[in-house]
Amino acid sequence: MQSLKIGLLGLGNIGSGVYSLIRRKRNLVTSRSGVSLELVRIADKRTKFPFAVPKTLLTKDARSVLRDPQIDTVIELIGGIHPALEFVLEAFRNGKDVVTANKALLAECGEQIFRTAEKYGRQIFFEASVGGGIPIIQALREGLVSNQVQSIHSIINGTCNFILSEMSERHIDFNVALKQAQAKGYAEANPKLDIEGIDAAHKITILASLAFGKLARFQDVYAEGIAQIRSEDIAFADEFGYRIKLLAIVKKVTDGVETRVQPTLVPKNHLLANVGGSFNAILVRTDEAGDLLFYGRGAGQKPTASAVVGDLVALAKSRSGEVKPRTSFPKGRLKIKGISSILSRYYFRFHVVDRPGVLAQISSVLGKYQISISDVIQKEWRVGSVVPLILLTHAAHEEAVRKAVKVIDQLSIIRGKSQVLRIEE
Ligand code: HSE
Repeated sequence: MQSLKIGLLGLGNIGSGVYSLIRRKRNLVTSRSGVSLELVRIADKRTKFPFAVPKTLLTKDARSVLRDPQIDTVIELIGGIHPALEFVLEAFRNGKDVVTANKALLAECGEQIFRTAEKYGRQIFFEASVGGGIPIIQALREGLVSNQVQSIHSIINGTCNFILSEMSERHIDFNVALKQAQAKGYAEANPKLDIEGIDAAHKITILASLAFGKLARFQDVYAEGIAQIRSEDIAFADEFGYRIKLLAIVKKVTDGVETRVQPTLVPKNHLLANVGGSFNAILVRTDEAGDLLFYGRGAGQKPTASAVVGDLVALAKSRSGEVKPRTSFPKGRLKIKGISSILSRYYFRFHVVDRPGVLAQISSVLGKYQISISDVIQKEWRVGSVVPLILLTHAAHEEAVRKAVKVIDQLSIIRGKSQVLRIEE
């Protein structure tokens, strides 16, 4: 029987889930996989936990776990970059393999981590880093090994999906919905990571690297958050037949690869438009298997712990030589197109003074930049008032859109900040 001697770093929300799952399902896992999971040490700075942990297992000193010769596998569930990075590198140097849920670490320091793992002949598994309990990493690396991935359109931040769903269903404002998401424990310790699109950008960086076989750089991924989305945008999008979702996208286009995170208008009948609440969904378009939709709980203690335990078994199997070790990570750099060179349809919301000729002024600027209008809604056209004017466009170049909006924002008829969102069909 293959046995893993495990050191767990971090007994927070996810760490507690892993501890509990191993205790509850150890025998089941062993009977199904032939792998025995033995938790040898747990490092956490806290001394009190909401459940009983044997004192003999606990230490406050993570380095003592990393140096323990009995331990061959380290589960890193501290989160963030430091000291998680130093711990993971030390684990490799000390001959230990690593399982982690740390998307920020992999997205921002992937190159260093994979190079070091390779140097020391170690492995790192990270199924829990994207999509919680959804086995998307394994699918991209193994199940879809014979496929060329053409695109991934995904909802991979449960907090933002919850907020946008609540705003849409209950007609509440962003701040009220955010408070609810925090109360439910979906948001990161720093909710900015969620609402500014950074968490989703970390995750799509990882998926882009796996999908296209080259290392994507986090800093090349354009990220826009959802804090500027107003209830009125959701209502107008609805009138045009769309829902607003925070999409993380990577797609092959004729002249390169586009990767971005953005609030997006998605047609109401699209699969992703109907993913509600805190759920995640990842739509992968491939050449052989066609379109595949992965759907499930993308966050939370139990789904994430499920992914960690799956990784432990995969690690044990690769150690025993049953499958090729997954140390080798995409080599070379994935060239990602800059956001200004993309082509997209757009939604504009302008707040304008009600005056004859306003629409003509705006459309003349758009026309000058070769931006063609496909639809217009104008509300409560009352003399003397400021009213919202909503325009949808045909496909246009981002660079032209930015220039045009800059000019429009200078017009004397414009009040307040203009809203620009992209549309994906
Ligand atoms: N804050 C993340 C989310 C947790 O909302 O999806 C899982 O990574």
